[in-house]
Amino acid sequence: MLAKREIPFFNYPAVFAADSEEIMASISAVLARGAYIMQAELTEFETQLAKYVGMKHAIGVGDGTMAILLPLLTCDLSPGDEVIVPSHTFVASAAAIHHAGGTPVPVDCGADHLIDAKSVRAALSDRTRGIMPVQLNGRTAAMDPIIELAQENDLFIVEDSCQALGSTYKGRPAGSFGIAGAISFYPSKTLGCLGDGGAVLTNDETVAHKVRSLRDHGRDASGEVSRWGFNTRLDNVQAAVLNIKLKSYDKAISHRRRLAAVYEERLRGVSQLLLPPAPDASPDHFDIYQNYEIEAESRDALRQHLVDNGVHTILQWGGMAIHQFSKLGFDQTLPYTERMVDRFMLLPMNTSLSDADIHYVCDQILAFYES
Ligand SMILES: Cc1ncc(COP(=O)(O)O)c(C=O)c1O
Repeated sequence: MLAKREIPFFNYPAVFAADSEEIMASISAVLARGAYIMQAELTEFETQLAKYVGMKHAIGVGDGTMAILLPLLTCDLSPGDEVIVPSHTFVASAAAIHHAGGTPVPVDCGADHLIDAKSVRAALSDRTRGIMPVQLNGRTAAMDPIIELAQENDLFIVEDSCQALGSTYKGRPAGSFGIAGAISFYPSKTLGCLGDGGAVLTNDETVAHKVRSLRDHGRDASGEVSRWGFNTRLDNVQAAVLNIKLKSYDKAISHRRRLAAVYEERLRGVSQLLLPPAPDASPDHFDIYQNYEIEAESRDALRQHLVDNGVHTILQWGGMAIHQFSKLGFDQTLPYTERMVDRFMLLPMNTSLSDADIHYVCDQILAFYES
């Protein structure tokens, strides 16, 4: 058994500290040029990000929530139009649907904690216009049945892939399955910046053109205003930071996948736990492990035991699914999701952690269930 150590859930100072010299040099150069908004670093980042995922367009916006909202606004939703979304997600997914003029319809997830095609089918109505798969925890959902449902029913797909940059399903990247996908660069994301940031990924020229205009007051390249827009451009200083982080992104993903393999190896025999799919569980999925979300029997007692031993865990979104926010007008029962939120928790998963740290966390979990 390893000696006691402190394992924070996420090491926020490390987002800067890991690359501090390069970041300071790059920021100084940007500031000295007075290059704050829509400058070369943003163009460079958009080019490199599009290349990284193998898509035609990456468009930097203010945050991940706007990266969901802007493509939805190109879908011309009318009041009462429904968009199906898994209930196990951040409220931002549903808020974007609401602000785009539609009605979010939350559905159950499956054992992988991702949108469940059977639940989507059951939620279809004559008002359904779109499906928003949420590529949660760094994993892309099995998209074949979702695409089939969308095609059969003439529905658009907009992906909330805020947690899944570089994740793939059958070789296709998260964000590429519908008209657009959203990415978040919130500091604790796999590609985190030093504040808020986001990007829209799309292969659709019309959507790309409209999103570029929507993020910049509805203006097009000539400056003419052709629609009501917003001010939600990815800040050029953040783009400069992201250019640095993107260079080592593959390394960061390998690190996370290695940590996930340690969790899998140490915990797979524990009958009281449900683990996420292992890194090599299926050739169809490449998981980037934004999070390591488990289900655990006696979850609250386990968390207390872990914190007593220096290991900090969290419940995503305060431990609530979106259909449980009754003040937003939801009044539904979703059995799988409700059982899941009583049992789920996130174990530490980030590039500040060593294999030994994960072994320590596993020691503590095993000791809890063996006692
Ligand atoms: C699944 C999901 N959707 C949307 C968002 C919103 O992203 P942001 O915080 O950058 O607005 C996040 C991240 O916070 C997220 O995890």
